[in-house]
Amino acid sequence: MKKVTLIPGDGIGPEISDSVKLIIEKAGLAIDWDIQSAGADIAEKEGSPLPKRVIDSIKSNKVALKAPVTTPIGKGFRSVNVALRKELDLYANVRPCKNIKGIKTPFENVDLVVIRENTEDLYAGIERQIDNDTAESIKIITRKASERIAKYAFDYAVKHNRKKVHAVTKANICKLSDGLFLECARHIAQNYPQIEYKEILVDNLCMQLVQNPSQFDVLVLPNLYGDIVSDLTAGLIGGLGVAQGANIGTDCAVFEPVHGSAPDIKGQNKANPTALLICAINMLKHINENETAEKIEHALYKVIEEGKVLTSDLGGNATTTEYTQEIIKNL
Ligand code: NAI
Repeated sequence: MKKVTLIPGDGIGPEISDSVKLIIEKAGLAIDWDIQSAGADIAEKEGSPLPKRVIDSIKSNKVALKAPVTTPIGKGFRSVNVALRKELDLYANVRPCKNIKGIKTPFENVDLVVIRENTEDLYAGIERQIDNDTAESIKIITRKASERIAKYAFDYAVKHNRKKVHAVTKANICKLSDGLFLECARHIAQNYPQIEYKEILVDNLCMQLVQNPSQFDVLVLPNLYGDIVSDLTAGLIGGLGVAQGANIGTDCAVFEPVHGSAPDIKGQNKANPTALLICAINMLKHINENETAEKIEHALYKVIEEGKVLTSDLGGNATTTEYTQEIIKNL
């Protein structure tokens, strides 16, 4: 039996994790889930929101499915998500964004991938209060991380038969840091003459994305722009309830949705488990459980296309439980 680390998270995390576990079980695949809790409750009990046992489990299993974990805003411990990516050197955050049949959106031809550098930039967590009225956050961009993510983006483009890579920065303002990111992207692009290489400023990208998203293919961005832009692109295909993601490193992969812990709908049986389910499908493909992955994929997209049993974020009125059962019925 394959062993996979599962971080059920908090907020809506446990509800959507239960849904996904049940669907995989009913699809006929037994997974040995190595359940590892993390977050605020764990910080109280174990002294850290991300205990070493979680990292050790992922290092040993090499693969994890992760539901969202709440990060206190403006105070408190450092984001578990950011720390996990850094600890395991999960340097590439890959967020494909493609229309799903049955979900009505203003655009019909969205098919792009956001590739976000995951280990540095303003997320390096180097901040200080200079005095009562001044705070400082340091943006770190290195050649090593920038070349590595650019190479990942071009390799991804080649592997997935994509045609174009846009490097996204604000290099007109952050001339040194984003300038270095761009220099690295240009340098790497030279090794991939078959892929069209383009550059765009992040503000212009946001405008173009909501006017004509189909012009974009692969986007490679430093951490902060990648975080923000991937929520925007999630909005293009039906919202956070369906937006998938994966954090890829040299040794391990952690599959997690774009969305957060949605405290506003926690415990109400309203959360859409689709994003985590798509992550689970990708996780199953990653561990070569293709047959089960395809079976679940087929059932999921059939339910969405039929549009009869959908959660409220997709315009339906089904509960998480009803939606889960509908997918199981279609397996
Ligand atoms: P959020 O993504 O949790 O929620 C934004 C909006 O989308 C809310 O109205 C929510 O109800 C809705 N939503 C999100 N996922 C949904 C789903 N599966 N089904 C239906 N509706 C859904 O973003 P927010 O409120 O900014 O962050 C809440 C917490 O989550 C924060 O502590 C944040 O730090 C954390 N977070 C964690 C992430 C992770 O664990 N990877 C990623 C993003 C945020």
